[in-house]
Amino acid sequence: MQSAQPNAFENSAKKNDVETRKGSLLKYIQELELQISEQEETYKILADKLKKLAPKPEDGTNILVLEEPSGFHQRTPSSTIKQNVLQGTGVILPVIVFSCNRPDIRRSLDGLLKYRPDAKKFPIIVSQDCAHGATADVIRSYSDASQVTYIQQPDQSEPIVPPGEAKFKGYFKIARHYLFGLNQIFRKFNHSAVIIVEDDLDVAPDFFSYFASTYQLLKSDPTLWCVSAWNDNGKARLVDMQQGSQLLYRSDFFPGLGWMITKELWDELEPKWPKSYWDDWMRRPEQRKDRACIRPEISRTRTFGKIGVSNGLFFDKHLKYIKLNEMSVDFSSKNLSHLIQSAYDADYIRNVYSLPVVSAPDVRTNTNLPFDGPVRIPYYTKDTFKSAAKLLGLMDDFKSGVPRTGYHGIVSVFLNGRRIYLAPHSSWKGYDLTWS
Ligand code: UD1
Ligand code: MN
Repeated sequence: MQSAQPNAFENSAKKNDVETRKGSLLKYIQELELQISEQEETYKILADKLKKLAPKPEDGTNILVLEEPSGFHQRTPSSTIKQNVLQGTGVILPVIVFSCNRPDIRRSLDGLLKYRPDAKKFPIIVSQDCAHGATADVIRSYSDASQVTYIQQPDQSEPIVPPGEAKFKGYFKIARHYLFGLNQIFRKFNHSAVIIVEDDLDVAPDFFSYFASTYQLLKSDPTLWCVSAWNDNGKARLVDMQQGSQLLYRSDFFPGLGWMITKELWDELEPKWPKSYWDDWMRRPEQRKDRACIRPEISRTRTFGKIGVSNGLFFDKHLKYIKLNEMSVDFSSKNLSHLIQSAYDADYIRNVYSLPVVSAPDVRTNTNLPFDGPVRIPYYTKDTFKSAAKLLGLMDDFKSGVPRTGYHGIVSVFLNGRRIYLAPHSSWKGYDLTWS
């Protein structure tokens, strides 16, 4: 029978409950304090801007000069790095296509061949795992026509998979295949860099221009470790479809899905290459070592591989909406020096923290936004990031604490005609591995 008086257990449960509520209230207050300090920053910036707008009596004029916000997108950096690097330098940038049992690799190869400007500078090597006959026939039709080089993964033994991971066997085979294929590229063919694609990727018309022109950047900035063609938040409604084609970013999140590395990086990774889940392994701090990838605003690859090693749910919910760039950019004529770490951090990060602060719900409904132009949505906890991301329809997951496309915690998207940055506190000190 139940007693009317609370017993000792109930008392302690109540006490715990009060403690928990006290804890979450304290957390809430801390967050509010942070938000207030952010708002103060914004007001200060706005006050400065207003001051600049005020007529200057000493000039004797009433002409108002409205300064452009530090528009790193539009600005032409003063220093230049050598462009069009593959021209005349003899650098060869091979493409490796990983294949298994998809005869549809034809679609990938046709795309690559259609847009490849030069067969000598961009040799295509298809590496096939799985010994799948119908797929082999397709690949052979291209190698017979000297359009691609065909190699095969000789190890077709059953991979050793730890108990409980049997259903993930595919990931063990993929990692083993990558080890084989990349060793062929760098140890057998002695290339100095490679562009890695899979057999279910379409490429954009300026795919080769993008990689050829970012190669020098990758070589010259030691804080970069890859160039990727992929924007994880690259849905049409989240990117700038008018001006975005030429926009490039640094990303702490390793995107994969069409990416370029140098031989030096392979020399570093090969000895410790993992048995499975190679992409999440790359994302761990021991491998990434604080290095970033370059990624575009609008993806230069798109995946059509609904049926594959991972399940098709992710494909239907997300991957199939990623927009493939259509407006070709001649990257060889572009100055990319703003992407070098020192310039980028000074410009990009400072710009983000100089922007007016708004809330995610207001951005979603496009109301209460008294400013034109770019804005910042601050986040201070994993949950506030996730709820803002969900509200705006961006990827809300973390790998090794890094949100997709994040750079110093900042995630940039373009929504309702406006640039939006989700940004952690300006005194951000690094990713929290417990955020997942
Ligand atoms: C996902 C990733 C993929 C990554 C893989 C490993 C996305 C959209 N895709 O694979 O980039 O490489 O996880 O973590 O995030 N393959 C083999 N041997 C096999 C099976 C597949 O070499 O036994 C090759 C395929 O030809 C393809 C690649 O591995 O090139 C990925 O296979 P896929 O079936 O497309 O798996 P995803 O789920 O896309
Ligand atoms: Mn795939």
